[in-house]
Amino acid sequence: MARILHLTDLHFGFHRSALEAPLLARIAALRPDLVVVGGDITHRATPGQMRSARAFLDRIEAPMMLMPGNHDVPTWNPVARIFWPFAGFQRHFGPDLTPAARVGDVRVMALNSADPYVWQRGKIRDGEIGRVIGTIDPMGTNIVALHHPLQHLPRVDKVLARRATEALYRLEGAGVHVVLTGHLHRWAVDALLATGRHPRVLQVQTGTALCARVSDMRNEFVLLDIRGTELSLERHVAPMDREGFDAPEISRYSRASGVWRRV
Ligand SMILES: [Fe+2]
Ligand SMILES: [Fe+2]
Repeated sequence: MARILHLTDLHFGFHRSALEAPLLARIAALRPDLVVVGGDITHRATPGQMRSARAFLDRIEAPMMLMPGNHDVPTWNPVARIFWPFAGFQRHFGPDLTPAARVGDVRVMALNSADPYVWQRGKIRDGEIGRVIGTIDPMGTNIVALHHPLQHLPRVDKVLARRATEALYRLEGAGVHVVLTGHLHRWAVDALLATGRHPRVLQVQTGTALCARVSDMRNEFVLLDIRGTELSLERHVAPMDREGFDAPEISRYSRASGVWRRV
């Protein structure tokens, strides 16, 4: 059994500070084995925002793995953006931009999809798909985590990350079972599965955990409880007009037949 918590798009500097304590309390109560922080940890990648985010993350007791989002590269300093885009991130959140972790028979592998040359759109770097595929555990459950989604639903107004489609087909073919993403500040799991395009990969697109943008409607995070081929998602939602989290919405999935089905 593995309990993996996916927390993404914190946007420190433009975040709901009143929700920090309820979020930390809920995370502590869930006692996850691993917390995966999916990028956009800060809003503008300033040293002050990085320090506040670091102080917040230091209050989480569980092991953690972090990767950058497009908001974690310098916004206002073009020289830093081009020549050392991830220096601030690495100083505050660790040197490894593509960490990996293991919980029991579950392996989690991060990709860095932030592209310092393009503000919104991400990219999967040359060689990264092959690198991740080379570390897949053929006997266990394999999860890939990155900031940018690998598939967009119709009506998403952002451009899909470069090489996203190739990455998703290759990861699915190689035995990746779950992909964790953020960036869009919109929840999508069943709608992505229902497209039928990638039935062997459960794509968990989680909304923003703390961003204060009112049009996002809610803040949220998700806990994955994985037992062999069975997986349950516990989605914890805090509506924008409430300074706390509702009781979780739970949905269950199985890949016992070789493809994911909601059960
Ligand atoms: Fe974001
Ligand atoms: Fe983003």
